[in-house]
Amino acid sequence: LLSVDVANPAHAVSPILPGLMFEDINHSGEGGIYAELVQNRSMMASDTAPVHWSAIGGTALALDTAAPLNDALKRSLKVVLPSSTGAGNRSGVANDGFWGIPVRPRTTYTARLFAKASRRIGPLTVTIESADGATVYASAHVPHVGTTFADRPVELTLRTGPGTPVVGDAKLTVTTADPAAAGETLWLQHVSLFPPTYNNRPNGLRIDLMEKLVALKPKFLRFPGGNFVEGNTIATRFDWKNTIGPVWERPGHMDDAWGYWSTDGLGLLEYLEWVEDMDAQPVLAVFAGYALNGEHVTGDALKPYVQDALDEIEYITGPVTSTWGAKRAADGHPEPFPLEFVEIGNEDFFDRSGSYEERYAAFHDAIKAKYPQLKLIATTPVTSREPDLIDEHYYLAPSAAQAATHKYDSRDRNSTKVFVGEWAAQEGRPTPDLNAALGDAAWLAGLIRNSDQVLMECYAPLFSHVKNNVWATNLIAYDNLTSYVSPSYWAQHMLTSRLGSTVLPATPRALPAVATVATRSGSRLYLAVVNYGTEKVKVPVELKGLAKGVERNATATVLTGPSRTTTNTLTEPSTVVPRTSTVTGAAASFTSTLPPLSVTVLELTLT
Ligand code: AHR
Repeated sequence: LLSVDVANPAHAVSPILPGLMFEDINHSGEGGIYAELVQNRSMMASDTAPVHWSAIGGTALALDTAAPLNDALKRSLKVVLPSSTGAGNRSGVANDGFWGIPVRPRTTYTARLFAKASRRIGPLTVTIESADGATVYASAHVPHVGTTFADRPVELTLRTGPGTPVVGDAKLTVTTADPAAAGETLWLQHVSLFPPTYNNRPNGLRIDLMEKLVALKPKFLRFPGGNFVEGNTIATRFDWKNTIGPVWERPGHMDDAWGYWSTDGLGLLEYLEWVEDMDAQPVLAVFAGYALNGEHVTGDALKPYVQDALDEIEYITGPVTSTWGAKRAADGHPEPFPLEFVEIGNEDFFDRSGSYEERYAAFHDAIKAKYPQLKLIATTPVTSREPDLIDEHYYLAPSAAQAATHKYDSRDRNSTKVFVGEWAAQEGRPTPDLNAALGDAAWLAGLIRNSDQVLMECYAPLFSHVKNNVWATNLIAYDNLTSYVSPSYWAQHMLTSRLGSTVLPATPRALPAVATVATRSGSRLYLAVVNYGTEKVKVPVELKGLAKGVERNATATVLTGPSRTTTNTLTEPSTVVPRTSTVTGAAASFTSTLPPLSVTVLELTLT
């Protein structure tokens, strides 16, 4: 029996419960949601070779530290043009993008680049063309290239026509056929290509991925990590001051936690604007003096890192009259951003030196002194200070996630509130299968039921490029053209979009392999039920404390599939999707039939 007390809510559903967690893993940022199409645009990805760049027309390519663009981009791509360069003979370079440059018809692309040459030459032609060079999909010209780099990049518009095919393996080229360029040298830096972006932001985000996130209506975005905020070494941490200002003045850094170069084009301001575009709030993770290789900082040596965190908070929230607020305004966002939550580090239970107690205290004291309104999140329990929340992470087998639906039921209600900042039932690659989604749904039902304790939650990781799946199970995957969502995405969408404002007492333990959560908003009752088993289950439901009755017609949204391993893929993205129908027979007592391997959300109207 599933007995629901509709008259006496247990507590409110946390109004900030569902959120998102993002870090640059599996090419989530570079080649992922950050819409830049050129890989290694800054020539900084390798010290030894211009990776992702190739010669066209017999040019010789090299990295040239004698021709830096500025103090951040300390080298450029040197292109020695052959003597054959001239009418009919183009020479230059090509970039292969992130596993190809994606092209669509009737689409406007924006190229930006810095160029200089050993003598004035021109024009320089920029094309998006087929991998074999036989078909040019779009092109534009830089009329002349002078002998010094300009202060700002040249900006070009490239538009594909109605007959352009959809292809994922195109390339970007920069060439010249000017006879005067024969035997001369061309230097290139910050060669960038953007497709249309979400909300048309010039340094913006991929539209299809943003739409999938916005549809989840997240309350917050936890960023920028995860391991990415820490780095393998302190030198390769997310050093936020290097991620603001013009993108061509950002040095970038090795994302050595996950094995590729980050241009940091997706920097602090871009994260904040991303949050703004989702109508969510930031959960800012600050570097807390510990890197993944165990390097850690204590005592006076911590002070600069604490100051960095204070400066970061000022950049986000300070008035334009403050030092860092003025920089934010100069970067294009005079309005301060709202900020309520700051997380000190990431997974500091890995710090075997025991330094987190001291490190947390240093950040806590400094931040609370200057920003007493901020809520601070510790990444492992501390004793000398009282964090506002503890971030707990759970990566579980699906059956363990299902069983863990009761994890927080008997928690000491007076202990520190919880932020489950990373969680996932792990099965399936690069995205979870139905079995994992059922585990996720049961787990999430438990978090909602206990959202007087678990105030916030976010699944992790969020994204994987199908060509760089270093972390097995991720919520959403894509190639450079298309993307799809996993069964787990749908399970989360169902439970968080069909959710009331109060949790109703129910009897979830009475039914083995079945997890439930009941919530209510006014006359709307939501009953989410997960059947983890392979048999159909008939659940007698009893609604206690009804003022009058229940409308006979209800809505049932069901997510299911034929087997535990059923899943969605790039080519078959809609195998497991929720289906909504009207069901009749709702009453004070009724029987709900749950299909095998299913998540069901019933929406009932109280009269
Ligand atoms: O989500 C992937 C990784 O898992 C995160 O970077 C880290 O915090 C955790 O160990």
